[in-house]
Amino acid sequence: MKTSWLAERIPSTEVLEFLRRKQVPLHRHTVWYLLGGLTGFFFLVQVVTGVLLTFYYSPNPSEAHESVRTIVNTVPHGWLIRSIHSWSANFMIATLFLHMFSVFLLKAYRKPREVVWITGVILMLLVLGFAFTGYLLPWDTRAYFATLIGTEVPRAIPVLGSFAVGILKGGEDIGAATLMRMYTIHTTILPLTAILIIGCHVFLTLFHGSSVPPGLKGEPGHIRFFPAFLYRDLMTWTAALVVLWWVATLVPWGLGEKADPLASAPLGIHPEWYFLPLYQTLRLVPSSILGINGELIVNLGVMFGMGVWFAVPFLDRAASQERSGRAMTVLGLLLMGYLALTIVLALTT
Ligand code: HEM
Repeated sequence: MKTSWLAERIPSTEVLEFLRRKQVPLHRHTVWYLLGGLTGFFFLVQVVTGVLLTFYYSPNPSEAHESVRTIVNTVPHGWLIRSIHSWSANFMIATLFLHMFSVFLLKAYRKPREVVWITGVILMLLVLGFAFTGYLLPWDTRAYFATLIGTEVPRAIPVLGSFAVGILKGGEDIGAATLMRMYTIHTTILPLTAILIIGCHVFLTLFHGSSVPPGLKGEPGHIRFFPAFLYRDLMTWTAALVVLWWVATLVPWGLGEKADPLASAPLGIHPEWYFLPLYQTLRLVPSSILGINGELIVNLGVMFGMGVWFAVPFLDRAASQERSGRAMTVLGLLLMGYLALTIVLALTT
């Protein structure tokens, strides 16, 4: 058989053959397998719209706000690109958390997918990092003061905290150095790292295939990944694009007044919804417990919690023996309940 010039150099036939042979388990939870791809789709939207925004954005305090105003008011379709970027960031964080908790409840982290889980937790931290660093860029009042408060949170940790805050801020105040650092982290360091980790995450899920939850009654059926499951992915992404377009057009993302560092923080300022659990926990914990700084306790609690979250596949002994133990499920449900409760409390009190 005559092979084409391209096929001799790029193993496209082998890749297509691998995808054709790949099967996706079909059972009553199969719909959750769409969420990882959906998160990836929003990530792609972020990259495309983010690159377009860098063409006009200027990362220094005297021009940043004006450059965003120009994007919104003067650049053709600039307002739409910015609105899609901001809305898609929120949708991506929401789908990431849904994806994370769905794989958690389906116990998809168990052997041999421990590394898939670990790369997933790293991705969660990277995505929250994107949100935090991107927030300051428009240099408006809310962004400025939220960043001022947010960057101070780790300072309670002796030595390491002040060091981390110093690296992030580039000095004592939120100024030109801070904005430049946030911009570089947001547009270069995080995207390159995220693309690398997403590559490992997706490669490993393709390699292992989707897991079947333990304790599922009856043998699951299967559908082909290519093209049957990919069609479902494409339909989900098309629906997501329609909703995103619709929301971004009907509720264009706002831009506040230019930040005035000499003014005092506006009353009732609070972070975006995804940082509210941390914000509300800091409000709930007293400033000192048995003589120990409350903020230090929260910081250490978050670090310990992250350690446990990374180690979930190794802590769930029942799932590693293909049994659907209750303990981890209860832990996950309690965590979800706590996150939801603190968000509601922060918005209503
Ligand atoms: C940028 C963020 C992320 C992207 C683009 C992404 C993408 C994907 C994709 C495409 C899949 C295969 C389809 C599916 O099962 O949904 C997948 C599976 C998986 N992801 Fe993610 N993911 C992300 C974040 C996370 C996070 C935060 C976690 C958990 C901490 C996680 C854990 C997993 C696990 C354990 C699987 C295997 C599921 C199974 O085998 O049934 N992912 N991910």
